[in-house]
Amino acid sequence: MSEARQLPIGVFDSGVGGLSVLRALRAALPHERFVYLADSAHAPYGERGDAYVGARTHAITQYLLEQHHIKALVVACNTATAAAIHEVRSRYPALPLVGLEPAIKPALAVTRTGRVGVIGTRGTLTSAKFDKLLGSLAGQAEFVVQPCDGLAHAIERSVAQPEPSPGTPVGATETGALCARYIGAMGDFGTAPGQIDTLVLGCTHYIFVAHELRALAGPEVQFIETGEPVARQTRRLLETAGLLAAPNGDQAKEAPHTRLLTTGPVAMLQAAAQRWLGLPADCCETVSVP
Ligand code: DGL
Repeated sequence: MSEARQLPIGVFDSGVGGLSVLRALRAALPHERFVYLADSAHAPYGERGDAYVGARTHAITQYLLEQHHIKALVVACNTATAAAIHEVRSRYPALPLVGLEPAIKPALAVTRTGRVGVIGTRGTLTSAKFDKLLGSLAGQAEFVVQPCDGLAHAIERSVAQPEPSPGTPVGATETGALCARYIGAMGDFGTAPGQIDTLVLGCTHYIFVAHELRALAGPEVQFIETGEPVARQTRRLLETAGLLAAPNGDQAKEAPHTRLLTTGPVAMLQAAAQRWLGLPADCCETVSVP
């Protein structure tokens, strides 16, 4: 068992969005090794349908198990979780597995107006899994659910471009214009009765445009995302399975523990890794996962 504990944790997403989850995982589990796979050649998943997303999820799980001998898997993608996590669970019952879903239950504890906004991909928000989750909370709050077609893809593209200079108006970027369209379609945000006071970020990409969403929704609106709770759950699962990595006692030798792989252009992953996680370009490589 001691050798199994030193194996890496696999993390994957359709693209760079899951890096937001990886950031929380690295902070909560500093002794672990991680292999992150961005399926950028096949992103976005959100508008592709369950069969496609299910097939990609299986191919990637198999790849991470066979090529990287992962001891646990975090599906850092709401869309893939909604489409395929039940099948991954039944195919690999012994694999500690963590998926993501829009954090609408935690939002209930936070909202004062009882009006909660939920943004995510069309795949996630029209899934049977999300429908069941919403149904289980019926009557406890009013949920304003908004699929954001194209936003994850625009976030992927934005990584390759220089960061907008401070003071750039929100609508001047492609991501900002999309955020404005979708936030505008949801109604009034704020803390007065009848306004949306809580916004659930139901796609792992969206945390990277939180500043644009914040500028549009206003400073008082609470944002709920899933990175930290997912990291805590991953820790619990590993503990229960006796798979938590032991510190090796030499901090200098412990870094770097993270390999970042992409099925798309490596430059995009390198830019995202550096911008959002402060990781060097040599952590990143392109791989083929047919
Ligand atoms: N980041 C993903 C999610 O959490 C999916 C984005 C996409 O590929 O459409 O749903």
